[in-house]
Amino acid sequence: MKVLVTGGAGYIGSHVVFELIDQGHDVTIFDDMSLGLVENIDPRATFVKGSTLKESDLDAVCQNGFDVVVHLAAWKAAGESMAYPGKYAKNNLNGTVNLINACERKGIKYFIFSSSAAVYGTPEYVPIDEAHPVIPANYYGETKLMIEKNLEWFSKLKGIRYAALRYFNAAGYDVQGRIRGKEQKPQNLIPVVMEVASGMRDEMNVFGNDYNTKDGTGVRDYIHVNDLATAHVKAMDYLIEKDIDLVVNLGTGKKCSVLDVIQKTEDVSGNSVKFNVVGRRDGDPGTVLAGSQKAHDLINWTPINSNLDTLIRSTWQVYKNNKLEEAQS
Ligand code: UD1
Repeated sequence: MKVLVTGGAGYIGSHVVFELIDQGHDVTIFDDMSLGLVENIDPRATFVKGSTLKESDLDAVCQNGFDVVVHLAAWKAAGESMAYPGKYAKNNLNGTVNLINACERKGIKYFIFSSSAAVYGTPEYVPIDEAHPVIPANYYGETKLMIEKNLEWFSKLKGIRYAALRYFNAAGYDVQGRIRGKEQKPQNLIPVVMEVASGMRDEMNVFGNDYNTKDGTGVRDYIHVNDLATAHVKAMDYLIEKDIDLVVNLGTGKKCSVLDVIQKTEDVSGNSVKFNVVGRRDGDPGTVLAGSQKAHDLINWTPINSNLDTLIRSTWQVYKNNKLEEAQS
């Protein structure tokens, strides 16, 4: 298949590109490089620099005749989306509408969308299955939900078949070590812990230890990016084979607390991770877990790298290598 991957130089996108090419697909990356990294671009892919905000950029790249679009280009910091909703409306909403319109103009029928567990908002029960109410607790999650709804309409009205993949907490790095560039300006737990373990920062905050969880800290469902990448390829095969839309969670249902992450990072790195327990972060639920039976049943997807050891080892490898390279330069 000829596949266009927007955001293909980004953290998750670069893993998706490697997997698509490993599976024999012909991939073009479309990325504005605002957060993407040159070093994470698969050399086997065609790279086109461009923005989803420019219809002329989209028309130019879509001339190449694609079968499928995998759309990952978006802003993704939930906290920032509450302070700067306009930034998120522009890039996530306008950018995606432009892309869907370009697909319609150019006859691209299959659309794989990078959605998020953030569409559910505060869990009413866990594990969260796809029937859980969708009431986003932040504007970022709202943009993902609005795009899902838009895709549903375009499927009905224009025959664009879509898969909305609702990622839980994406983490880890390519287990083959091919992706070596650290995520830029990270705000999520695992990269913050890594920055402390590698000496880039002195200490970190643990947001609350009074949740109703095994050690009082927040529990999440961390899903390895190689497993996410596999799901994209399987979702693509499903859309093409069945010609029906797909909305699925991608997680493991395994519980992992903040202290589990810190402890495992100390074990793997051999370095201590200094932390202070502070108050809860606004809007943070105690436990978020995925029910992913639907992805298992419909696209035969089973995560294989999403255990804490692999998540932390693969991430530490990247931070350790970066540290060595910085020391040598
Ligand atoms: C966040 C987003 C979510 C997004 C997901 C994946 C929010 C409210 N949610 O999820 O929309 O889909 O990332 O990108 O922003 N923690 C600390 N100290 C830190 C950082 C985090 O204790 O410095 C704790 C948090 O309180 C939480 C856990 O670590 O319990 C995970 O946090 P984080 O990695 O930011 O992800 P989420 O908040 O689950």
